[in-house]
Amino acid sequence: SMSEIGRKNLVTMTRYIQKNDKLPEDKRSEFALLFSAIQLASKIVGNSMKRAGIESQFGVTGTTNVHGEEVKKLDLIANDAFKEALVESGQVAVMASEEEEEAVIVENTTGKYVITFDPLDGSSNIDANVSVGSIFGIYEKKSAGKNGDTSDCLQAGRQLVASGYSIYGSAIIMVISLGRESGVQGFTFDPSLGEFVMSHPDMKVPENGAIYSVNEGNSAYWPKATSQYVEYCKSSGEGKKPYSARYIGSMVADVHRTLLYGGIFMYPADSKSPNGKLRYLYEVAPLSFIVENSGGLATTGTKRCLDIVPDKVHLRVPVFMGSKRQVLDVEEYFKKFP
Ligand code: AHG
Ligand code: MN
Ligand code: MN
Ligand code: MN
Repeated sequence: SMSEIGRKNLVTMTRYIQKNDKLPEDKRSEFALLFSAIQLASKIVGNSMKRAGIESQFGVTGTTNVHGEEVKKLDLIANDAFKEALVESGQVAVMASEEEEEAVIVENTTGKYVITFDPLDGSSNIDANVSVGSIFGIYEKKSAGKNGDTSDCLQAGRQLVASGYSIYGSAIIMVISLGRESGVQGFTFDPSLGEFVMSHPDMKVPENGAIYSVNEGNSAYWPKATSQYVEYCKSSGEGKKPYSARYIGSMVADVHRTLLYGGIFMYPADSKSPNGKLRYLYEVAPLSFIVENSGGLATTGTKRCLDIVPDKVHLRVPVFMGSKRQVLDVEEYFKKFP
């Protein structure tokens, strides 16, 4: 009981899920199991990160993944931790990971959930001890067969039943949404309890912000709408001051800051990457679900990200997400400069 642990109002993630009256009973128990697996994976990844310097686990594996990126040792450690924990939860039929070439079909299971994940986001930063994270999206299996298949992963972000991320920073924080009705909740890992404890109830992204976040090194390749919008971000006049620039280069960390402080995070399309860089299933859809369920918006410039139906697991899409005001402004620029 609460008095035994000597704390009042201690809401662990499991307790929050089990008591969530926005969800039917059966879903609550299934989510409790699923999220306990995700919490375990996040604790494992968080620990590996802390010990990486001591155990020589920084650096690369020497292989490249399906996106053409150098695979870091920690990318693989994280991918294995998520896969193993999710399979063991008994709730998962299909998984798609940034680090796997194909969707992973789980055999001999009654699990009916489909999980897409980026086991380690921001891994190019990792050797510099910069904050990184993990991102996940949860769908229901739609295919009729006994086992799931790749088509189960190819659902619009709008179909997500839950999503979230863990951020491995000065603390491990996990932010989740169990659907629009349930909003967005943040939990901080308390090492003394071994539990994620609610620290950011009912998160709301500010409606208006004054921070823009983009890799401006790509600006030579941007289309006019993006260049003009970013010029606007930096401009002053009519009561507007120039926005501050903040870009960590870890999407999770940049989006987490945007959720807390407001403003806009972007990874636009450009002439060398016509779909931008970020992957729909592992990055854009789950974080759009979080941002929109906390009152913000996410667009490609011309289309709401949650309305995209992916045609392949590794699809990339351009993204602008954050405060309503800034995202609506971006959409205006795309109308003006199609
Ligand atoms: P990952 O480490 O999972 O491959 O993701 C990296 C992504 C994302 O975290 C970040 O927003 C973006 O790459 C940064 O890209 P640039 O270095 O091109 O700015
Ligand atoms: Mn990568
Ligand atoms: Mn990533
Ligand atoms: Mn990654």
